[in-house]
Amino acid sequence: MEQGFLTSKEHALLTEQDPSSIEAVLDACSENVIGKMSLPLSIVNDFPFEDTCGPLVLSSEETSVVAAINNMAKWMRQYGHISTIVPENATWGQVFLPNVSDVSHFSLWFAEHQSMLLSYINTRCAARMYARGGGCSEVRYRVLDASTIALDFLLDTVDAMGANAVNQVAAKLAEYLQEITPYTPCLAILSNHQPDGVVRCTCQIQNVPISLGRAIAFVSRLATLDTFRAVTHNKGIMNGVDALLLATGNDIRAAEASAHAYASHTGRYQPLSTWSFKRNTLTGSLVMPIPCGIVGGVTKVHPVANLALKIMKITTRSKLAGLAGAVGLLQNLAALRALATEGIVPGHMRLHIDNLLHAQSVDVNVKEALRGKCYQHLRTHGSIAMCDVAHYHAELQGTPS
Ligand code: MEV
Repeated sequence: MEQGFLTSKEHALLTEQDPSSIEAVLDACSENVIGKMSLPLSIVNDFPFEDTCGPLVLSSEETSVVAAINNMAKWMRQYGHISTIVPENATWGQVFLPNVSDVSHFSLWFAEHQSMLLSYINTRCAARMYARGGGCSEVRYRVLDASTIALDFLLDTVDAMGANAVNQVAAKLAEYLQEITPYTPCLAILSNHQPDGVVRCTCQIQNVPISLGRAIAFVSRLATLDTFRAVTHNKGIMNGVDALLLATGNDIRAAEASAHAYASHTGRYQPLSTWSFKRNTLTGSLVMPIPCGIVGGVTKVHPVANLALKIMKITTRSKLAGLAGAVGLLQNLAALRALATEGIVPGHMRLHIDNLLHAQSVDVNVKEALRGKCYQHLRTHGSIAMCDVAHYHAELQGTPS
């Protein structure tokens, strides 16, 4: 409110002074709803993305994700820049044809009807989307085995993530194929594999100390050498991507599925980002699909998701996808920097201490002293648990355990 991003009504919404407007949509989002589970919604000020005005809104339940983005945002703003290229929204839909007795006959039929199928989709199944500048740009088929064919179509759903739209087009196309061919389609659905619509995000940071730059590039290289490491590296990227998608009401399972499938698209699971270091400059590059939307689904229905888009002044899907890529790359940088220096535990644990203090309902008179003792314990032992906090708490209150 103080920075002018929220009206008092919006502030009341976020602080749940008026829960009715959220409760009203919960029943529409799911079934057998008995309550709600809140997640923290956080702000990153000064996000260093070319044309981002206003703060970035993230939702994450994991300690240190937002703090890490904040730190990287400051580092980037001072010494670097970050840019993205977002292609048109491109989701494949599929209609499966089983029991195709003569695949070569199908292939001839397809060659004759390919352009007709494309125009059928654009005029009869996705006419409104086509009119808005989207629609179908490609129809193809793939032979899956001796008698099974997948007929795929690529659909640009403009500003919608498009799952419902693609499913509807697939269902209509299946009906049409049933009518005009001897084949009986058995399945019509979108695919969450999106290798044809990848977001590319690049960043450079100058004046990086040589030992730090080399260490980050080395940690990044480990992910290209080892699948076990690559999966964790990519999980760190998704910490950032999911946080933004969650805050804007997007389907993070779709984002996860497409990201990990893309990581394997060469036949070997690879990191979605890589870092190199040359002449004091650290260069990071991220390539991955980020399915998301700003209309349709929960995005426009959930008032908090709507508010997140408003605060960030996001008016197109492509802006949201670009920002999500940038957050993913910065989150990844934070993790690699921590791993290359003090390790991941101290940073996590410093923030975790605050959670432990909160869970202990610590007396405010001893809170700072207790925090100091906890940090000291962490420095000495490298870890801290709830029983340690309870012990120091009791000690400070004069009732040693
Ligand atoms: C933890 O949520 C994410 C990291 O494990 C990512 C990484 O190891 O690159 C820190």
